[in-house]
Amino acid sequence: MESNRFFETMAKGRMPLAFRPEHEARLERLRDRLGALDGKCVVEPGCGAGVLTVRLAEWVGADGHVWAFDSSEGMLSHARRFTEEFPQVLVEQADAETVEMEEGSWDLILCFRFYPHLKNPRPFLQKCRRALATDGQLVIANLEGSARLNEIHGRHAVMQGDIMPDAETLKRQLEADRWMVMEAIDEEDEFFLRAVLL
Ligand SMILES: C[S@@+](CC[C@H](N)C(=O)[O-])C[C@H]1O[C@@H](n2cnc3c(N)ncnc32)[C@H](O)[C@@H]1O
Repeated sequence: MESNRFFETMAKGRMPLAFRPEHEARLERLRDRLGALDGKCVVEPGCGAGVLTVRLAEWVGADGHVWAFDSSEGMLSHARRFTEEFPQVLVEQADAETVEMEEGSWDLILCFRFYPHLKNPRPFLQKCRRALATDGQLVIANLEGSARLNEIHGRHAVMQGDIMPDAETLKRQLEADRWMVMEAIDEEDEFFLRAVLL
């Protein structure tokens, strides 16, 4: 079973990918690291069931905009339900490999618990370059460091190919593609990398 089918099966659950109580402090830290988002335009690729999308909706506020997409229709049915009271959120089905993103428009592209599932990250990151506004930022974040996440994925046969590079490796790859990496944190309970256009 490939990972797309894995996520479709997971989406049949009542609350797929729900945050656990121990995640709350990490989410608060993520919010702090993202800085003021009020009124910002944010893309959330691989939004899953929308558990972070509802928080992003609050963080950008009524004047902001969140475009959340995912390839799994099952996940999106949850995300649509969770976000229905937020007119600033658009939830759509799209695949990161083929999605068209409006160029020069976005303040933040937030790959949250998503990056290791990209089969071919480089073309997607190039698309992100074009989609960001001049002072926009790309953030790749997980609630665990790369070593811990790869250990978790390693327990599921279908996820074994979904590798999270360590922050130094990812930083080097991004810098080779003309990103400026401002922060690259890879600790047991946090992965946070922020990059801007050179
Ligand atoms: C680990 S889940 C995380 C979902 C969400 N970001 C969260 O934190 O709850 C990864 C999500 O990425 C989606 N996904 C995987 N590959 C994708 C792709 N190429 N394009 C869009 N979504 C994708 C899956 O369907 C799944 O919902």
